[in-house]
Amino acid sequence: MLVLIGSSPQEVARLAADQVLAGLKFHGAGSEPVLGLATGSSPLGLYRELAVAVSEGRADFSRAQGFALDEYIGIPDTHAQSYRQTLINEVCSVIGLPREGLHVPLGVAESVADLEKAAAAYDESIRQAGGVQVQILGIGANGHLGFNEPGSSLRSRTRIKRLAAQTREDNARFFEGIDSVPTHCVTQGLGTVLEAKRLVLVATGPGKAQAIAAAVEGPLSASCPGSVLQLHEDAVVVLDEAAAAGLTQVQYYNDSAAGISDADLHLG
Ligand code: F6R
Repeated sequence: MLVLIGSSPQEVARLAADQVLAGLKFHGAGSEPVLGLATGSSPLGLYRELAVAVSEGRADFSRAQGFALDEYIGIPDTHAQSYRQTLINEVCSVIGLPREGLHVPLGVAESVADLEKAAAAYDESIRQAGGVQVQILGIGANGHLGFNEPGSSLRSRTRIKRLAAQTREDNARFFEGIDSVPTHCVTQGLGTVLEAKRLVLVATGPGKAQAIAAAVEGPLSASCPGSVLQLHEDAVVVLDEAAAAGLTQVQYYNDSAAGISDADLHLG
């Protein structure tokens, strides 16, 4: 796992965007970028930095596909707080990803069985697209990844989940009070997330310090779904100093951040 700590919101956003761009295929055969998208405040600066890369000709999302991590159940996908609308506003119109390329789990159906069928089809559509090249992630204060709340199976697939009380409280700011926040969602499973070729998680602020310490340095445990990053071979965690405050190995992470060159190893 690579842990990068930025000293300003701009640096966090830039470091994260560089890690995302390095993992995407923009050129050559089969090179349409396939991006996994998170909503929430954590990746907003990262999306703005991707837009800068587009304006400078370093990136092009006009043929990209984007797969959302999750969607609320029970609000139409035209609702302003649905994750489809959020991603259209905060990602598609910012980085130039076409709406036709945006995939979001189905959150409205006639029955639980229909939602479950659509959830399984969602995993299949990710496979059909060749898999997610880079999955962008935030983390909940309770350690959730996507909406895989504590206790979620580490091998779970896209499915229906009940939202934790803390998650509903955290997200009430986007709704007219807690009672309007949906109780359930459809979320990519932790097993689904782990299939992305690269994971880039962004976390900022003191409210994330405990979850980050548990995810990065705690034991692998369903009690902290974010700890599943420890199983991935190419996971990058980008933090500000406040979110990194609970980590014990910061010096090592900073020393390792520059990567390994021939000169470091006295080769060549
Ligand atoms: C968003 C998602 C969630 C958020 C997490 C952090 O699609 O799945 O896991 O990433 O709740 O949210 P923010 O970034 O708003 O603190």
